[in-house]
Amino acid sequence: TPAAASVADLAGRRVVVTAGGTREPLDPVRFLGNRSSGKQGVAIAEAAAARGAEVTLIAANLEVASPGGCRVVPVSTALELQEAVTAAAAGADVVVMAAAVADFRPADVSETKIKKVDGQERMSIELVRNPDILAGLGTAPHDGTVLVGFAAETETDPARLLELGRAKRRAKGADLLVVNRVGWTHGFAADENAVSVIAADDTVAAEASGPKMSVAHAILDVIAERVAPGAE
Ligand code: CTP
Ligand code: CA
Repeated sequence: TPAAASVADLAGRRVVVTAGGTREPLDPVRFLGNRSSGKQGVAIAEAAAARGAEVTLIAANLEVASPGGCRVVPVSTALELQEAVTAAAAGADVVVMAAAVADFRPADVSETKIKKVDGQERMSIELVRNPDILAGLGTAPHDGTVLVGFAAETETDPARLLELGRAKRRAKGADLLVVNRVGWTHGFAADENAVSVIAADDTVAAEASGPKMSVAHAILDVIAERVAPGAE
């Protein structure tokens, strides 16, 4: 592992990172969300900037401060994130999809606060699929862009966890897929993380655990090796 922030192996590279979790509105006061804090994505953005990259951070409802030295594009919903990342990805050297994107959104958004009815003990909400943003980027031509996905899985068996990651990388057309285990007590708001980075040949290109900043540098080591050499 290179000595983290002392290497400028991403100098002048355009790196786009999505971080946080989307929120899908139900009415003016409610949303469907998820438990992603944005810490790991923000650490990747900060680490990439420290290695010399020109970083665009697409920030979905972060629970942590955005790092300095990055262009920050705030978004909230999956559709907003899609628009922002699609625009930023054109000509980017690296796109890292660390954000937790809602798979579904409420089919209808009420203009006014939804009221309960007397005696009502249950209610259901109809949801519609959101676009798969990573798969959209992965299936479109993206020569010269290293596309990195994340997989949040609750699988506890390490071998099965890697298999899920391999299948997900293939399905999305990503160049790399970072697998981490999430659950009620670890993964999301924690300051530490444990990940495996799966490459296009299905091998594990890196394993890293510890503070999210050191995990970020380990992920960027794998990415930097795959960024096409360019004019300095
Ligand atoms: N992702 C995306 N658009 C979506 C859902 C997910 O771009 N609508 C991206 C995430 O940012 C992440 C990767 O796809 O990089 C994997 O997300 P994950 O939720 O683990 O995978 P899914 O394909 O949604 O599968 P699952 O049914 O396991 O949630
Ligand atoms: Ca999902």
